[in-house]
Amino acid sequence: MSNCTRISVGNPCDYEVVIGRDLLGELPTMLGENVQRVLVVYPEPLRAKADAVGAVLSAAGYQTHVFAVPDAEAQKTLEVAGRCWAQLGLLEFTRTDAVVAVGGGATTDLGGFVAACWLRGIKVVHVATSVLGMVDAAVGGKTGINTEEGKNLVGAFYLPDGVICDVAMLETLPQSDFVAGLAEVVKTGFISDPVILDLVTDHADELRDWPPRDLDAPIWAVVEELVARSVAVKAEVVSADLRESGPREFLNYGHTFGHAVELAEHFHWRHGRAVSVGMVFVAELARAAGILADDVVDLHYELLQRLGLPTRYHGEADWAQLLTAMRRDKKTRGSKLRFIVLQDVGNPTRLEGPDPELVEKAYQIVTGK
Ligand SMILES: NC(=O)c1ccc[n+]([C@@H]2O[C@H](COP(=O)([O-])OP(=O)(O)OC[C@H]3O[C@@H](n4cnc5c(N)ncnc54)[C@H](O)[C@@H]3O)[C@@H](O)[C@H]2O)c1
Ligand SMILES: [Zn+2]
Repeated sequence: MSNCTRISVGNPCDYEVVIGRDLLGELPTMLGENVQRVLVVYPEPLRAKADAVGAVLSAAGYQTHVFAVPDAEAQKTLEVAGRCWAQLGLLEFTRTDAVVAVGGGATTDLGGFVAACWLRGIKVVHVATSVLGMVDAAVGGKTGINTEEGKNLVGAFYLPDGVICDVAMLETLPQSDFVAGLAEVVKTGFISDPVILDLVTDHADELRDWPPRDLDAPIWAVVEELVARSVAVKAEVVSADLRESGPREFLNYGHTFGHAVELAEHFHWRHGRAVSVGMVFVAELARAAGILADDVVDLHYELLQRLGLPTRYHGEADWAQLLTAMRRDKKTRGSKLRFIVLQDVGNPTRLEGPDPELVEKAYQIVTGK
């Protein structure tokens, strides 16, 4: 087996996240001996990856079925979940069978939700194929789908039986998705791990020019380390706080303004790009509030800009619209605005009910208005 990093989630360990290359051989151990049938759920463009997973599972003796769903957000619907359940019914999946989700965050959200509900919960393993899937969606046990009323409104906390982050799979990830996923990696660096910020500083150009020319390029080891470090932070926070009330909230750094931008732009902005502007917004807010030093604020601009991520918002929404969206964000309590801000790198805190003038000042800076 190749060198890899193993990170346990839960306390004691509920499941392992394995990060490295050529990791599909981990699947049988994660699924365990009692599983007979496996449904491999994947979005259409990732057929080759799903087939590779299916081949490993068949060779290991499982009755394996690959099942295509629509791509990206189009798969996170009740209708598609219903199709998955129909397939599980047709194939007579029992309590001891399993789902393997192969794809980005949309697929691990769907696959996890499908597994959580079938017979009130069967095993699920995530094979995350995007940066966002690896460092965020597949780790932490949140699953869900979208409805007419909004994104991720229906779902369940449901722990997987294992997560595979095979970074070689990122070779085919489009540059824009790769870089958007890095926004969450940078976020993790700011709230908890300065080594992440050093690595991104030293390799920003190669990361921005994704993918590298070949699989032997030294940047792969950097990507592996960035994913492993980000997963380690999320795993630690989530293990301490599975249902989101204490430190898990720090993972939402940059997300309050980011979510408002996503909503204002009708989700045409990639999540990571909205979070990028959102981080600049809270960095400026923290500076205006006198709690964050200039050099850390400057580091936000430097890193995000070098990766090609936005640090300004020039969209349609005006201040009133963004403010309303921020007040409605699920992270605010009551109507009081509440932000995660930094006091320094690795030292996040909550800022509740900040002076509205400071909030508007941060808005003026990020919008240039
Ligand atoms: N559950 C959670 O805690 C959590 C956390 C963050 C995000 N999410 C969810 O994750 C989703 C976003 O994740 P995402 O950005 O990975 O989206 P995604 O799953 O839609 O993937 C983005 C695009 O990249 C493609 N893709 C993925 N891996 C690829 C690869 N290796 N090669 C080529 N193409 C590839 C997909 O086919 C898709 O077109 C959202 O639905 C969001 O709500 C969930
Ligand atoms: Zn996020």
